[in-house]
This record gives sequence, C-alpha cells and structure tokens, in this order.
Amino acid sequence: MRDLTVRSHRGEYRVIFGRPFAGLEDGLKDGEHLLIDERVAGLYAGPLAKALAGRSVLRIKASEDAKSLERFPDYAVHLIEHGIKRGHTLVAVGGGVVQDITAFLAATLLRGVPWRFHPTTLLAQADSCIGSKSSVNVGPHKNQLGTFTPPEEIRLSVEVLKTLSEPDLRSGIGEMIKVHIIGGLDDARAIARDYPRLQTDPELLAGTLRRSLEIKKGLIELDEFDRKERLVMNYGHTFGHAIESATGYAVPHGIAVTIGLDMANLYSTRLRLLDAALCAELRPMLLANMRGFERTPVSLDLFFAALAKDKKNVTAATARFVLIRKPGDLFLESRPLDEDFKAFCRGYFDTLKAAEAAR
Ligand SMILES: NC(=O)c1ccc[n+]([C@@H]2O[C@H](COP(=O)([O-])OP(=O)(O)OC[C@H]3O[C@@H](n4cnc5c(N)ncnc54)[C@H](O)[C@@H]3O)[C@@H](O)[C@H]2O)c1
Ligand SMILES: [Zn+2]
Repeated sequence: MRDLTVRSHRGEYRVIFGRPFAGLEDGLKDGEHLLIDERVAGLYAGPLAKALAGRSVLRIKASEDAKSLERFPDYAVHLIEHGIKRGHTLVAVGGGVVQDITAFLAATLLRGVPWRFHPTTLLAQADSCIGSKSSVNVGPHKNQLGTFTPPEEIRLSVEVLKTLSEPDLRSGIGEMIKVHIIGGLDDARAIARDYPRLQTDPELLAGTLRRSLEIKKGLIELDEFDRKERLVMNYGHTFGHAIESATGYAVPHGIAVTIGLDMANLYSTRLRLLDAALCAELRPMLLANMRGFERTPVSLDLFFAALAKDKKNVTAATARFVLIRKPGDLFLESRPLDEDFKAFCRGYFDTLKAAEAAR
C-alpha cells in the first residue's frame, strides 16, 4: 500500500502502511517515551517486548476517564520523572484515547515535543490519525479542551485489527462510511457495495481505509483548523454526540455516528433536500453497521439537552447539522429544535426499535 503524505501547519507528515509496530521491533531509541494502550501492550507483549522493556513506558487503560484533564498531572509527572527533554519524542500506540492523550501532552509539555503514532483501532487508522486534532475531557464535559498538533509520522498495519472487538471494528467502519459519502456518489456506492465483505477481507479493508484517509486529506489540507470545508466531517456527529451523551457512552463513537448519519439522511429527506431513493439506497449499510445498538435506550430528554448544548451551536434553541443534498454535496445549517424536529427524532427512535424487534 502506498504511503500518504499530509500537509499541515507544521509541515508534511506521512502515513506509512506496513508491518505491525514497524520501527519498534528493536525497542525504544534514546529520547523516546512510549505511551501505550494497556490492552494492546498485553495482546502484543511478544512483538513489543523490547519496546515494553524500555526506560520510559506509560501504560494507559483506554477509557473516557483516562483522557480527562484531571488525569494529566500523573502523565506529566511520569514523563518528567523519566527525563523528558525538548527534542525527545512521544510514541503513542493505541486507539483514539491514547492518541488524544499523547497529542495533548505533545502540545503542552515543555511547550511542545514531537510525537509519532502507531494507531491500533480502525477508528484511529481510518480517521482520527490525520487531521491534527487532540481533544481532552474536563469534569463531565467531553472533548472541550484541545489543540491542533499533528504527529511527525503515522505507521499503521491492518493486521493488528484482528484482535479488535467486533463493535470497535464497526465503529471505525462508521467513520469510513461517513467520509465515503462526503467523497461523492461513486465512493458512497463503492463502500455500500463492499460493506458486507469489509470485516472478512483485510485487503479490501486496507484499500477502503486508505481511500478514507485520502478523502479526509483533501478536506484537512484545505481547512486544517475546522473553519469551512472541513466542517462537513461533522456529518452524523451532531446527532451522534447527542446519542453518546444520552446513553452514557454505551454506544461506541462510530456506531453513534452511524445512527447519526441515518438520522441526518432521513432529516434531509424530510426537508426535501435528499432524494428518498438515494436515502433508501444508503440505509441498509447504515442499519447493518448499527446492529445490536438500536435498542440501547436513548433518553429523549438527555438527547435534546445534549443537542442544545453542542459546542458548535450558535444558540440553545437551534442546533447545527450537516445536511445532505446528495453524496458529495453536504452543508452545515442551523435548525430550530422545535416540536416538529422533536417529533421527527421521537419517531426515528421508535421505528428503529420496532425494526430491530421485527428482525
Ligand atoms: N482526535 C481526534 O481527531 C479524534 C477523532 C475521533 C475520535 N476521537 C476520540 O477517540 C476516542 C475513541 O477512539 P477509539 O475508538 O480508537 O477507541 P479507544 O482508544 O478507546 O479503543 C477502543 C478499545 O479498543 C481497545 N484496543 C485498541 N487497539 C486494539 C487492538 N489492536 N486489539 C484489541 N483491542 C484494542 C482499547 O483498549 C479499547 O478498549 C474517543 O475518546 C474520541 O473522542 C478523537
Ligand atoms: Zn467521529
């Protein structure tokens, strides 16, 4: 698989496809500090033996709590006590949680140190590894602190996804579906066609993953700081974040996004923006990708409260949604959170439960 180069405000960085944990076989080099997902460290104790025996290793149990600001003193103290200096490199191995922690530390420790990323979840490989964002939680508020801090390099291998849980795999597929629909009708149709084989055909998965990064690269190179073109990447996310919040994060991010994409499509159809036939064409893939989570109880009060609080809103009486006219033609719009909208959401969750029960 060909490398991908991404332009950022800090210069270019490369996504290199290759062997699992390439570059870590011989252990950590002088001045490298490893931050690793505890589960990954256990599963890959063999291939990572030398790196794990290195001088500076921080094992992190991936959870939303782990990326809370309240936990950062421990991380910073660990790195300082392990001799971090300017010019040293943080090496992150794990999913989005370890990425967010490492990127935030890289931005702030000693006013900035470089970092490198070996993403091990599909979500991190196909989506979050490029784009520079770090997001950290504070108190009960998710992703409210952050920076734009791209890594120096990303090294990934789909081989490590074999040990990922099936819902976590589908979470990553949810983000891949999102970006393919943003890519246009050909990309949307390609992923709908390939969807049934993505989990069993590693080559197809790798190709789809690379295409996802390519489409995202197009947007972040135009608008790294999320002011204009990149905003369509929030497709499915206003609904998705509200679902995560209203279910106490019982639904993995990319699966909440999958439900959010379905809601955004149906809502766009209701507003006579998206053709009903196109909406129906994309729906089987979305329903398949959210399966098992349709019945997760969504408290509508919490759902509407979360929509009213979304950080991208202008006022509490409206919410900003990415709406769709057709694949490749999406735009951001503020919509009133009125009775008509609430009836749409209520109806959506009712029919979802009914559809699941009928299966
Ligand atoms: N910075 C960004 O641009 C960005 C974008 C999207 C999401 N995020 C954040 O990323 C987080 C979600 O990331 P994620 O979905 O990668 O989840 P994660 O990092 O929580 O990992 C999910 C689970 O998979 C396990 N795991 C990781 N790699 C594995 C492997 N190879 N085999 C087996 N198990 C493995 C982890 O231990 C964890 O239990 C959220 O906090 C979200 O806010 C950040
Ligand atoms: Zn997302």
